[in-house]
Amino acid sequence: MCGIVAYIGQKEAYPILIKGLQRLEYRGYDSAGVALFNDGNLNILKRKGKVNDLLQFSKDKNTAGNIGMGHTRWATHGVPNNTNAHPHPSGDGDLAIIHNGIIENYEPLKKALKNKGHIFTSDTDTEVLVHLIEEVQRETKTDIAEAVRLALSQVIGAYAIVVLDQKDPTRLVAARKASPLVIGIGKDDFYLASDATPIIEYTKNVVYLNDEEIAVVDLKNGLEIKTIANEPQVPVIQEIHMEVERLEKGGYDHYMLKEIYEQPRTIADCMRGRIDSKNNRIYLGGIMEHKKRFQNAKRIIIVACGTSWHSGLIAEYLIEELARIPVEVEYASEFRYRNPIVGEGDIVIALSQSGETADTLAALEIAKKRGAMIYGIVNVVGSSIARLTDAGSYIHAGPEIGVASTKAFTGQVTLLTMMALNLAHERGTISESEYQKLIIELENVPNKIKELLANNEENSKIKYIASVFQNAENALYLGRGYNFPIALEGALKLKEISYIHAEGYPAAEMKHGPIALIDENMPVVVVATNHSAYEKILSNIQEVKARKGRVVAIVEQGDVHIKNIADFVIEIPKTAEPLTPLLAVIPLQLLSYHIAVMRECNVDQPRNLAKSVTVE
Ligand code: AGP
Ligand code: GLU
Repeated sequence: MCGIVAYIGQKEAYPILIKGLQRLEYRGYDSAGVALFNDGNLNILKRKGKVNDLLQFSKDKNTAGNIGMGHTRWATHGVPNNTNAHPHPSGDGDLAIIHNGIIENYEPLKKALKNKGHIFTSDTDTEVLVHLIEEVQRETKTDIAEAVRLALSQVIGAYAIVVLDQKDPTRLVAARKASPLVIGIGKDDFYLASDATPIIEYTKNVVYLNDEEIAVVDLKNGLEIKTIANEPQVPVIQEIHMEVERLEKGGYDHYMLKEIYEQPRTIADCMRGRIDSKNNRIYLGGIMEHKKRFQNAKRIIIVACGTSWHSGLIAEYLIEELARIPVEVEYASEFRYRNPIVGEGDIVIALSQSGETADTLAALEIAKKRGAMIYGIVNVVGSSIARLTDAGSYIHAGPEIGVASTKAFTGQVTLLTMMALNLAHERGTISESEYQKLIIELENVPNKIKELLANNEENSKIKYIASVFQNAENALYLGRGYNFPIALEGALKLKEISYIHAEGYPAAEMKHGPIALIDENMPVVVVATNHSAYEKILSNIQEVKARKGRVVAIVEQGDVHIKNIADFVIEIPKTAEPLTPLLAVIPLQLLSYHIAVMRECNVDQPRNLAKSVTVE
């Protein structure tokens, strides 16, 4: 993971790097550092902790320079400390490197370099790479770009790197393999970054570097790209459209809260142009272009990780129920390593907010090689998954910065609901009246979420429940059918940001084990918004109460029975059963948010996590 940013031009680099690192901090926050070239000197400043720690540390230091690079780390090799922080210098101090990814064969390389006299100061794999480049440069007497290329041909692993050579200070060399890198092209300057967010204030023109490509940005010669195999490439310049305001907190205390409150708008954005409200029709471009393939699909396999995997599970219920196509939902990390049976006739859908998750990308590559059609449902425009897939749909949720995913989840579920309805209609597995009814209901979801978020009574209830359970050590989340994945998602949200251990379970599975955990200290959150299994859920709640568990139930407005037995109820507006996940998840997002705030946890940057998991 980690964020990298670099600048070369006429402006002061330091403020650009710091602002860029703050934007990229969601990618990792174990340490932060910059390298600046000024007056013939390479100056490296780095600190364990957040970008703010680096800012404090650098206050009275020299931060001048028009060329530089910055890094925010998510440690893979070596604990987070000042020494392991990036940038890393070469042994002779001429080079500096920032790296996102893992050099898998760093051990043999390190051993060989040690035998040649190299001395290492950090525990990172990255430091090995910069020493390797230095060694290649020394042995082959080539310039820095060629030395980077030759060194990378010896490297196994994943990387996005930027290298600066103080002997050659009018250019920066960058390369990528399986970790993202975007090049911003200014009037007389260049920007390099892990995503476009540090760049958009300065230029709209970007080039997405492809895997196994090396880019040289040179103040005299402009941008040159070649492959690691030394084939020249023609850079494809694209225009990006992103508003800077979308990257700010907009008056909220945390990005996560802002993103929760944005959901009425982001869900509407996801539907915009895809629902014809006059005729009650759904038109998903990516599907209609490949209509035949979807209609004849033997099977749909969904690959994803974390929260995205949860929306995949909801899709399984939706697509099987409405469109009658068999769906399998796989953890991308398992799928990629288990020789899956997949081939022509299968459609493999990747769900990913970032579009950069390494396991999801690798799973897609396997599916593609084996002849399946690959489809991406992603949020980040221009991301690796978006570029790898044959077809796809963006969820249009806008930048999601809080590490805990909220609006991207509801965006995915909205998109997948539209997909299920579109497929069902094309395949004739849904009646016209049911199809129209669900479309109308779906269009009403943003307003219902707005209503839910504006309901002060319910909100203060959620805060109150949070205060009651803020010191809990464990929690159980239960749900059935469409809302079983919501139980998983609710539990994940709580774990991620408040560090309370939580388990999500299908409500009926409770009696096969987890029921043993229930006592008067155990909060049990039950998503009880199903119409079809209402009685069953009611019984599950009785079972918890009989063992003195404390029940928080999410119910639909007007519920009478559950109200009488649950300790706390949170009401959500009524909707059609397949759409209840979109509403039921909102109070669970808010509950974990408030608990995390009360526990004084870092809501937007929970410990050990990073937003974009570009390592295995
Ligand atoms: C969500 O709250 C998590 N931080 C995490 O599980 C995330 O959903 C997962 O890493 C997948 O990310 P992606 O959607 O960007 O592929
Ligand atoms: N593997 C490198 C390290 O542990 C880079 C990790 C990252 O992507 O932040 O320092």
